[in-house]
Amino acid sequence: MADKKLTTEEILALARKGGVAPKPTAESPATEESVGASPSEAPAKPAAAKPSSTADILAAARAGGTSAAAPKASPAAKPGSTADILAAARAGKAGGAAAPAKPQTGGEGVKKAPVAAKSVGDRPSVADMVKAAREGAPTAVPAAKPKLPAKPVLPGKKAAEESTRRSFFAEAVTFVTEPFMAAWIAMGAIGAIWGLAVARFMMPNMIVEPPTKFKIGPESDYPPGTVSTKWKAERGIWVVNTDQYNGKQLIYALLSVCTHLGCTPNWLEGEQKFKCPCHGSGFYITGINFEGPAPRPLERVGIRVAPDGSLEVDKSVKFQEELGQWGDAASFVEMA
Ligand code: FES
Repeated sequence: MADKKLTTEEILALARKGGVAPKPTAESPATEESVGASPSEAPAKPAAAKPSSTADILAAARAGGTSAAAPKASPAAKPGSTADILAAARAGKAGGAAAPAKPQTGGEGVKKAPVAAKSVGDRPSVADMVKAAREGAPTAVPAAKPKLPAKPVLPGKKAAEESTRRSFFAEAVTFVTEPFMAAWIAMGAIGAIWGLAVARFMMPNMIVEPPTKFKIGPESDYPPGTVSTKWKAERGIWVVNTDQYNGKQLIYALLSVCTHLGCTPNWLEGEQKFKCPCHGSGFYITGINFEGPAPRPLERVGIRVAPDGSLEVDKSVKFQEELGQWGDAASFVEMA
């Protein structure tokens, strides 16, 4: 029984029934202990009046033990809280009135000891600051941040120039961004573009033509009975050395232009003829047309022996066989 721990309800029930939780009886060891105990250690007196409620019991216990719910450990010991009273009641039930109550030292023992103020280095702790605030002492003010160095001031002349430059750009930006000025600038740009376009239109699209007169080398470069295609691509002529036109060994230059619609015929060495790829016109080595739609012979251009002995061709002069122009001495060079 001594090991059993009473619940709060049991304690209160016992207290309401009339007395101290561990009501001393003749058999209880608590009573035996209380005989030899001093008055200060004696169990609490039975309550004269039966408490009616928990509040009454606790009030009586706090007031000094009229209800004797908690035995006093000493005259100075005074339960301070419900927990203390319940602890004392449990102790009384288990060990009788001799069981010591929760050790207390007067009323001050109930209070918790203040937490020791801690401080780290030079910084005051929170407890110190709170204590200082309560006592009215001024709190330590943290050191002020170091000020940045003042901005260097430009010399008088340089500062004035800088200010003038800034104001000029500001005024220029403001002037250009004005709606009226923006319109004028746009119109000026459009006018300039139009002027350039007109100037380009007035300039002719010239194609640089090669000179009409050019030298083609000495007579020896063109042996008899041959057609040279050396100048066809560059100058548009064939150089022919033949005796088939009038029985004389002549060198002449034929234009490589078909007399039908202007295509460029090809010299076919195997067939000894000029053949137009467009509509099939054919021309002999003399330039006389003999097949296809070509209406007339090929044309000759001027040729002569230059003072330096080389042959010189002049494309600005043309000779047509149907007009009897091939008899002109400027249309051929007779071999000696
Ligand atoms: Fe040469 Fe028609 S252009 S045959």
